[in-house]
Amino acid sequence: MNPTTIRKDFPVLDDETLVYLDTAASSLKPRQVLDAMDEYYQKYGVNVHRGVYNLSYVATTKYEDARTTVSNFINAAFNEVVFTRGASSALNLVASSYGLNNVKAGDEIIVSELEHHSQVLPWQNVSRITGAKLIYVPLDEDGRITVDNFRSVLSDKTKVVALNYVSNVMGYVAPIKDIIRLAHEVGAIVSVDAAQAAPHMAIDVKDLDCDFLAFSGHKMCGPTGIGVLYGKRHLLEAMPPIEFGGDMNDNVDKFDASWKEAPYKFETGTPPIAEAIGLGRAIDYLQGIGLDAIHEHEVELRDYTVKRMKAMADIELYNPNAETGIISFNIIGVHPHDAITYFDGDNVCMRAGHHCAQLVVKWLDVPATLRASFYLYNTKEDCDKFLATLERAIAFFREVGF
Ligand SMILES: Cc1ncc(COP(=O)(O)O)c(C=O)c1O
Repeated sequence: MNPTTIRKDFPVLDDETLVYLDTAASSLKPRQVLDAMDEYYQKYGVNVHRGVYNLSYVATTKYEDARTTVSNFINAAFNEVVFTRGASSALNLVASSYGLNNVKAGDEIIVSELEHHSQVLPWQNVSRITGAKLIYVPLDEDGRITVDNFRSVLSDKTKVVALNYVSNVMGYVAPIKDIIRLAHEVGAIVSVDAAQAAPHMAIDVKDLDCDFLAFSGHKMCGPTGIGVLYGKRHLLEAMPPIEFGGDMNDNVDKFDASWKEAPYKFETGTPPIAEAIGLGRAIDYLQGIGLDAIHEHEVELRDYTVKRMKAMADIELYNPNAETGIISFNIIGVHPHDAITYFDGDNVCMRAGHHCAQLVVKWLDVPATLRASFYLYNTKEDCDKFLATLERAIAFFREVGF
């Protein structure tokens, strides 16, 4: 793959001074995705599943074609793909529908300190309501979830395992397939947060045998406002909807109503139509380049950058051996919110904070971290510009006496 050619697809990168290293928060969007969404609004921008006229038929077909694209992307069946607002609402759907109806006092739910708030807070809520206990997988000394540590907390009380596939702070890939196998041996279901995995590596839900898997469009070249919940067919069928209203219902009487089959009973109201179409196009775009090539490219940029950072004094690196394109670090003695303003001055976009994952930042025992994350449009020049700014930032903060 050639990132120099790829960059031409991303209008935001027309600004050649920009160094965009915040893909873990949200990726940039290529013209192909913008054009697909624009075409919807310009040529057939009407509602789906409702109108008995050609334009509505076209919109419905494009919307459902996007579902086919998503299902092929993760090797799911068509009706195992629920469109949601994002990974957060997908993970909330699992907790509020499956969790609240299947978990009871005395049961255990396994999570970890490596989770994004979207994975841990919905299960805190289930725990509060049902009396089930939240159990944390102890992280190893690098902050990883290991199979042995997972085994140490798994028991016949475990009913749900809710973990990330790739950590948004540490960039570690969890041994999720082994975890799923072990969880199934005790009869637990596994809900996988793949928000940081789906944009960067091929996912096969049948091979993983996960029960649920969630991701967002906006981290993988797609639009905001769209995400995916994959759920095994029999689980989705048994789950009640958590939102009620138009389009999700079947028959409606005065005091009762029935629902459509999954996935439609979970897609209440007018869905994010342009966004689903944009996500479908984003998946085509990524697959056209190849997920393996993208992953390899990010890791190459990461290794190149980390090697140079390791040679710098005054840097604390929190994940020197991660296997994805995320670098979490701090300039020793400098608050990341001070440091980030220096990077912004050089038009280097990064993230500073707790990354909606306070538990792992607390585990690291720091107030916050800086995070640089790479994607298919980043180049070695981006790395060099970032490193040059970093060197200047360190010199600056030392000079002013931090
Ligand atoms: C690991 C992880 N899970 C879940 C989310 C939530 O995604 P969204 O904000 O798109 O719902 C994020 C976003 O940062 C994430 O990194």
